[in-house]
Amino acid sequence: MTSPYGLQGRAAVVTGATRGIGLAVARALTEAGVRVCVTARDAEEVRRTAAELGGAGLPGDVADPAHLKSLADFCVRELGRLDIVVNNAATNQPYGPLMEIDPLAWRHAFTVNVEAPLRLIQHAWRAWMRDHGGTVVNTCTEGAEHVGPRIGAYGTSKSALLHLTRQLAGELAPKVRVNSVSPGLIRTDMARFVWEPAEQQITAAMPLGRIGEPEDIARAVTWLASDAAQWVTGADLVVDGGTRVRAAQPAPGSAVQEALRTRTPTDLP
Ligand SMILES: NC(=O)c1ccc[n+]([C@@H]2O[C@H](COP(=O)([O-])OP(=O)(O)OC[C@H]3O[C@@H](n4cnc5c(N)ncnc54)[C@H](OP(=O)(O)O)[C@@H]3O)[C@@H](O)[C@H]2O)c1
Repeated sequence: MTSPYGLQGRAAVVTGATRGIGLAVARALTEAGVRVCVTARDAEEVRRTAAELGGAGLPGDVADPAHLKSLADFCVRELGRLDIVVNNAATNQPYGPLMEIDPLAWRHAFTVNVEAPLRLIQHAWRAWMRDHGGTVVNTCTEGAEHVGPRIGAYGTSKSALLHLTRQLAGELAPKVRVNSVSPGLIRTDMARFVWEPAEQQITAAMPLGRIGEPEDIARAVTWLASDAAQWVTGADLVVDGGTRVRAAQPAPGSAVQEALRTRTPTDLP
């Protein structure tokens, strides 16, 4: 297929690309003419995904700094270049009130969700992007905007990734564009514990009438990685079916909502 986005012939690495959002991103980039290298911990899944895409694959854990260096070098060796980095692998552990969080587990969340994206960008910069340019898309979360029960380690680390995105956009311009996508609730394994037991109620409360599919995020990532977004850097693209719009509204039945519904500013002297 000819790429509508000028992506034809480019090369990408996608972390956490064997299922969920990462797999959808890897498929969408491949369809747009990008040669893709995938990584995840399960070696058999990496092999299967690389074969499906006709791309490359290197199994490993993004928490392992040596894997990230090997990964960038492997991409340049196997694909001949490395134009696009999609930092998608993440953990939503540890789970619980912050007063009870184990410091080692907290550190692991930051290693996977913040340090690994930075390290992979550093290696891609040295191996290709410093000389040839490129673009990065980090997967954050719409939820990082909110305070949620028991999800503080994840939310805090994703907020850090959001800031890292903006900081790197400033440091790496004009050579490399760095943006993020912030998904709302997406039908994947990571979020199954949220959507599966209550899908009907969640869907009913969604402004756009459904929970998200991995392909909703893949289209946004493909756009950000493409020349269609050539004047976009340091941006966060929220793709959440309107969740944030709904969350910003006063709760139904609240005094604020009642005032907005029944009164106008001219009611006051
Ligand atoms: N689903 C949602 O509702 C949602 C909402 C907001 C943001 N997000 C973000 O979207 C991204 C993708 O999430 P998802 O829902 O698609 O997750 P998922 O379905 O659970 O898939 C996770 C992928 O990452 C890989 N992975 C996990 N830990 C890894 C590690 N340490 N090193 C290398 N690979 C690893 C997994 O393979 P292995 O297990 O084989 O390693 C798998 O390929 C994450 O950044 C997540 O925070 C998701």
